[in-house]
Amino acid sequence: MIYKLFSPCANELTDLLAKEIAAIGGTNVHTAYCVVYFDATEEVVYKAHLQLRLAGRICRVLKEIPAQSPRIIFDKARRIRYDQLFSSDLPISINVSSGNSGKIENHLIGSKLREAINDCFEHHKNVKPNQSSYKAPIGINGYYSKNRLMVSIDTSNESLHRRGYRVEGHPAPLKETLAAACLAACEYDGTIPFYDPMCGSGTIVVEAAQVAINRAPLIHRKKDGFGFEHLNDFNTKLWQSVKDKARREERPLQTTIHASDIEPEFVKMARETAANARLEPTINFSTQDFFKTEKPEERGLLIANIPYGIRMDEKSIDSEYLIEIGEHFKNRFKNWRCAILAPSELPLKSIRLKPGKKINFLNGTVPVTLVVFDIF
Ligand SMILES: C[S@@+](CC[C@H](N)C(=O)[O-])C[C@H]1O[C@@H](n2cnc3c(N)ncnc32)[C@H](O)[C@@H]1O
Repeated sequence: MIYKLFSPCANELTDLLAKEIAAIGGTNVHTAYCVVYFDATEEVVYKAHLQLRLAGRICRVLKEIPAQSPRIIFDKARRIRYDQLFSSDLPISINVSSGNSGKIENHLIGSKLREAINDCFEHHKNVKPNQSSYKAPIGINGYYSKNRLMVSIDTSNESLHRRGYRVEGHPAPLKETLAAACLAACEYDGTIPFYDPMCGSGTIVVEAAQVAINRAPLIHRKKDGFGFEHLNDFNTKLWQSVKDKARREERPLQTTIHASDIEPEFVKMARETAANARLEPTINFSTQDFFKTEKPEERGLLIANIPYGIRMDEKSIDSEYLIEIGEHFKNRFKNWRCAILAPSELPLKSIRLKPGKKINFLNGTVPVTLVVFDIF
């Protein structure tokens, strides 16, 4: 059986995510605005949930239906066999989004989908499905565009950026998937030394350590945490074997991984994060001012998510600060690839180094830019 899937993501991530999906065996991988579509066998579906570092969600396409009117939506959507997919007692949440050409309101589409699911269960099983959406393990999505509605089921449930290791309390933590995207954009494969000199709560360094030992990022998600585990076609045996294989494919660390921050309390937090991810012994932590750091190895990759005023009460990050960062890279990190992730509105040219690569992302709602320099 081949499943048709998609993973919605920030538009800047589509190419990187498509590459990751192809690498784990996804086929017919193609990108559109803010989404990557792909086909997958049952085994690759499970691998995708366990191993993709950049995906926030994965959805299985159920059917694409004509949607010229609410009546047509109901009529076509009720023919999808939800009763064969999941049990009537599970809470269901319904989410509808639309492209810019829609003339039917999302909430009306949502209520037609709810009616269609009710009708399907009543017709085929003579039961009313659960009407609650509280902590729903079943997520039905509708994407409405150009008089068509793509109905899908979210097989991830909780967003895949929630790896389960985060320690709360840092004022500006990076989303795990964005940290992983920065590493992928720098072509980090875990074989060379890595250093985050402004590690905060440790997200980037933990993601780097996971790459370095080839750990599947979602391997520690608890039982029943994924949406697909609640579906009638869940193949427990295959899922277990995919997880076992992922564990066997972990490799010993071949390099060194370093993290520091100027604030001792954040270094402590990053240690706790690493301990939660069962990675603490892998990483060398220290408390240091970035401007006094030395390269810990002859060559490697450095990524710094620099402080900024939006969510952190920091001193002003201006051109002078950026000039100092550039100078420090040039003087102390020769032979390293050095990248900073910073708000796009900053005068990043002040770093006065020639960037090898520049990628724009969104960090929550803040536009940020990853600028990558190879220091010779
Ligand atoms: C945007 S936060 C990094 C957040 C981190 N990526 C995370 O996921 O939690 C920036 C960090 O830089 C640290 N910092 C600020 N100035 C520094 C300096 N001169 N040297 C080292 N760290 C510094 C702050 O303490 C803060 O933790």
